[in-house]
Amino acid sequence: MTKPLADRRVLLIVGGGIAAYKALDLIRRLRERGAAVRPLLTRSAQEFVTPLAAAALAGVPAHTDLFDRADEAEIGHIGLAREADAVVVAPATANLMARMATGHAPDLATTVLLATTLPILIAPAMNVAMWAHPATRRNLATLLTDGVRVVGPNAGPMAEPETGVGRMAEPVEIADALAAMLAETAAEPAGFGFLSGRPRKAPGPLAGRRVLVTSGPTHEPIDPVRFIANRSSGRQGHAIAAAAAQAGAAVTLVSGPVAIPDPPGVAVVRVETAREMLAAVQAALPAAVAVFAAAVADWRPDAAQGSKIKKDGAPPAPLALIENPDILATIAGLGEGRPTLVVGFAAETDRVIEHARAKIVRKGCDLIVANDVSASGGVMGGTANTVHLIARDGTVETWPRLDKDEVGRRLVARFSALLAD
Ligand code: C5P
Repeated sequence: MTKPLADRRVLLIVGGGIAAYKALDLIRRLRERGAAVRPLLTRSAQEFVTPLAAAALAGVPAHTDLFDRADEAEIGHIGLAREADAVVVAPATANLMARMATGHAPDLATTVLLATTLPILIAPAMNVAMWAHPATRRNLATLLTDGVRVVGPNAGPMAEPETGVGRMAEPVEIADALAAMLAETAAEPAGFGFLSGRPRKAPGPLAGRRVLVTSGPTHEPIDPVRFIANRSSGRQGHAIAAAAAQAGAAVTLVSGPVAIPDPPGVAVVRVETAREMLAAVQAALPAAVAVFAAAVADWRPDAAQGSKIKKDGAPPAPLALIENPDILATIAGLGEGRPTLVVGFAAETDRVIEHARAKIVRKGCDLIVANDVSASGGVMGGTANTVHLIARDGTVETWPRLDKDEVGRRLVARFSALLAD
């Protein structure tokens, strides 16, 4: 089998943050997949990892300074900006993202990023508050609009004594996202939708808008190996995120554990639990549209055990459950900062419309997308869906059975129309 990145040349820009140590592992992962990697370390990256370590793993020298005479004579910053198939920035710090978004180029890394016409993938990593800051939100939206691809950050424990969203995506996830980006840019017809090789979107109906989508299940740990969860493939939520990006929106997809690929052109934040999902959603606001397609577990074990619960012959201890936060109701109930359009889902097995009408009132959202998930329908995990759209005034619109991608596109068209009203 050919390796997923065989013969690909990657310029890896390493920013200055504690996640820089993971960039070394990323070099290994990219090479394992067949890529040739040329590392470029910013000055602050060198506070965390040495050019020598990066060079040893890459098998070629690492670049560092803007005015490195030897480099300039041999290849130069313009050469660096061209002689690869893609640029990966990992970790992309808040500072690097800001410079990229504004075209500020005081050093070699940012000069290359400004001069390059190659596809760019960034893996942001920063403190929770920095990721949630409106300035970083704006910069992310600008970068997505410019065609820059984003992987992560994920939720989870950070180097600092806090948890939340800001942790760099794992090297394997970055390598997969790069392979997906290259496959996709290669598939686009040359000369159309491209500005000098960088994917550019024609302005769609959601251009300049921010859209937030939740998708997939949440996993609520019982112990390190067991969890409770709802059934959810993530297909419908991911399809909506993809369609919103296609319509020009800057999309953040907050996804629980799923086995399907990230949609193209979307910033994906991976989470496990409902509480992490809520934190990631709050960090991703503001947004014009928020779509809650995730199958969030309603309850979680009261106290997750730190080590695996053993079978010891005695009957198992009863599982005490407590209620999870309702993410949809929390966001729909926001005063200031509430998205203009808050959309919920209702997966019901009986009396679908009646339950959905009650839910729209209970949750305080503007629209409910209801579907019948009784076993006969094959909706769970399948690729098709039959949905009913329920509005706040109780009106119902039933769509024919459609592919989930088509449901995503039609929903996005509806959101655009509602925003324009
Ligand atoms: O209450 P129920 O789970 O049926 O509601 C489904 C809708 O509420 C979906 O849009 C789902 O994403 C959202 N939800 C949520 N947080 C929860 C439970 C459900 O956002 N804890």
